[in-house]
Amino acid sequence: MTAPLYEALMDYAKNQIIPFHMPGHKQGRTFPGEYLVNLAKIDLTEVPGLDNLHNPEGPILEAQKLAAKAFGARESFFLVNGTTSGIYAAMYAVLNPDDKILIMRNSHKSVYNGLVLTGTVPVYINPEIDYEDGIPMGIDINKLEEYLKKDEAIKAVVMTYPNYYGFCSDITGISDIVHKYNKILIVDEAHGAHFPFSNNLPHSSLQAGADIVVQSVHKTLSSFTQSSILHLNSDRVDTNRLKYSLSLFQSTSPSYILMSSLDLARDYMEKEGKERLRKAVQLADYARDEINKIEGIRCLGKEIIGKYGIVDFDKAKLTVSVKNLGIKGPEAEKFLRDNFNIQVEMSDAFNILAMVTLADDKSHIDSFIEGIKNLVAIKRDKEPVEEIKNYPDIPEMVLKPSQAVTKKAKLVPLDEAINSISANFIIPYPPGVPLVCPGERIKKDMVKYINVLYNKGIKILGLKNNNILVCEI
Ligand SMILES: Cc1ncc(COP(=O)(O)O)c(C=O)c1O
Repeated sequence: MTAPLYEALMDYAKNQIIPFHMPGHKQGRTFPGEYLVNLAKIDLTEVPGLDNLHNPEGPILEAQKLAAKAFGARESFFLVNGTTSGIYAAMYAVLNPDDKILIMRNSHKSVYNGLVLTGTVPVYINPEIDYEDGIPMGIDINKLEEYLKKDEAIKAVVMTYPNYYGFCSDITGISDIVHKYNKILIVDEAHGAHFPFSNNLPHSSLQAGADIVVQSVHKTLSSFTQSSILHLNSDRVDTNRLKYSLSLFQSTSPSYILMSSLDLARDYMEKEGKERLRKAVQLADYARDEINKIEGIRCLGKEIIGKYGIVDFDKAKLTVSVKNLGIKGPEAEKFLRDNFNIQVEMSDAFNILAMVTLADDKSHIDSFIEGIKNLVAIKRDKEPVEEIKNYPDIPEMVLKPSQAVTKKAKLVPLDEAINSISANFIIPYPPGVPLVCPGERIKKDMVKYINVLYNKGIKILGLKNNNILVCEI
């Protein structure tokens, strides 16, 4: 057999790595055995009796209705191309070309791509940044109100809730403000599909009154990768246009494996899933407490509440800061993989992020704690990553992102880019908030700031050997 991808996957599976990453089912631990052995047999198409995602009248409609009830939405729609497709559909359903939309400056790529697809004009709001941990956190709701008061033309708002690390803005306050100004609130709840199923977790933005909420069920619950749900909870959105938009961004051959895994994930949450989730949160709390006893290591948690626009956090996420050990996140990630057979979800300059889900048990958590205790053995890095501070103001937007990305572009040395219009993002990590977005004018001060970061060795996405892509105009 010559099937490199298949072989790589089989190797991963055989190595019995302890996964602290998505998908939430953690290699099938939550699925009925009967389902797993029949996967190929249920990889079907729109034959009689199996309904049609694009015009559901039978079991797909029924499954979506059950999902709506379980998640607390008025209507729910299955997605087979991830939350990405749901964000596109939501934006396409409520916006026309040249409409203004308020988005967080650190929005996920799908929101930025949504700007390109819709030809809309972004108004950016910066998140509050926890410079110490290198993480963009929440939204200051007073700032949000100022934006909406100042610019009546803004038609909709897209918020990310929670952030990747599980920290949550005041989504109820945000929802109230957005609706006070009669705008539409779309929430990218990619990392919060489990919220409706526990009283010990932040509430879902569905409860906060958001109009459209998109959740990656595959990330924190137990469906297959790429399966998500878009929930509609409002009269402010034209349902027919939303349905059209959904069909625009989804395959006409949607996978029955993905759709049935959504159906099963919902059913699981109505049965033993809730209790499993309660235990997962308990285990993660236990891990956080144990990790916080280790000198030089900190597991982020409730001390963040009340700062950076944060009002709550997802206890099932373990963000472990290794900064004070003088090592970088990726080194800690590699150490855990090489020595403890643990794979975390992600690492950044200062932290590693581990996801605990309803598929975990205590033995995983104990291995994780053991691994973290041993991190002190890693040799210190020569130069610790420096914190970035004093984020510069958002540059002037000259072209819409949809215009900038279609212009002919050229790579120029950063120092020669002054006054040019960027064709790309410039994003330093940490904290992962764009300094420059496509269509924005690169001013002298910005070049100076980027040069400082570059010379400090900070990772900057969008910069190739200190060259940047600008529009040829
Ligand atoms: C904040 C956020 N939004 C949206 C997405 C897209 O979700 P999906 O992978 O389900 O398409 C992601 C994925 O990583 C994400 O982190």
